[in-house]
Amino acid sequence: MKNSSLAHDSLIKSISAGKLPKHIAIIMDGNGRWAAKKGLPRTAGHKKGMDTVDMAVTTCKNLGIKVLTLYAFSTENWRRPEKEVTFLMRLLKTYIILQRQKLMKNKIRLNVIGRISELPEFVKKELVKTLKATSGNTEMTLNLALNYGGRVEIIDAVRHILRDVLESKKDLAPEAVINSIDEETFSSYLYTAGLPDPDLLIRTSGEFRLSNFLLWQIAYSEIYITDILWPDFKEEDLYMSVLAYQQRERRFGGVKRI
Ligand code: IPE
Ligand code: IPE
Ligand code: MG
Repeated sequence: MKNSSLAHDSLIKSISAGKLPKHIAIIMDGNGRWAAKKGLPRTAGHKKGMDTVDMAVTTCKNLGIKVLTLYAFSTENWRRPEKEVTFLMRLLKTYIILQRQKLMKNKIRLNVIGRISELPEFVKKELVKTLKATSGNTEMTLNLALNYGGRVEIIDAVRHILRDVLESKKDLAPEAVINSIDEETFSSYLYTAGLPDPDLLIRTSGEFRLSNFLLWQIAYSEIYITDILWPDFKEEDLYMSVLAYQQRERRFGGVKRI
């Protein structure tokens, strides 16, 4: 056996199946820097990053992770040069088409979070097809964050709540309406309604920031930051992040268990 596969096998064996994160969320960062280091255009990094996406989906599925959320395009990413944005949208479309069969084979359901209505028509058209085709799959949910921003998600939830109140609760006493909002109700108005909060949040490329990702949902997520750039992130690195997660003590504001 090769050394690398030995290391790979022993890493998998160290993972405790009973303590897996249910939901892993990833800020896939560093595509541009990966390309620059090689003297290539930023788009080459995005292209290579797609292979890592493929690896992450397969690895999480095989590990038994129930939800994988990938931050693919933020509400702020429209600020990038038009050429790069267009490339990313085309890449997204290609990915959604290519993945359709693979997701079916692996029984993975595709879900999207973000202001989807603002995406180009050619992306939306393919998205709808893949969402429909995979809607009955139950092995894992692949949750793609597209044109996603944590702040607009909260704004959209507030708007949605107000609309509901104005439309269907206007006969109730104001106090009753106000008190009907608790954490659970609020969560049910977010794009992530029905999904558990992430247990583990991974960010590649060594940046110590959230960049507007899942602001509400990561209140108690364990954060794992690695210097590795997304196109270089390998299966072993994902196992390492899960192992690090399993060594954390999650207290949720309580005290250390003895
Ligand atoms: C992440 O890589 C991909 C997207 C945000 C779409 P970047 O493109 O942000 O790469 P860096 O951070 O510039 O290296
Ligand atoms: C966050 O990365 C968004 C995605 C990974 C899609 P960015 O590269 O956009 O974040 P900043 O600008 O470095 O904070
Ligand atoms: Mg970046």
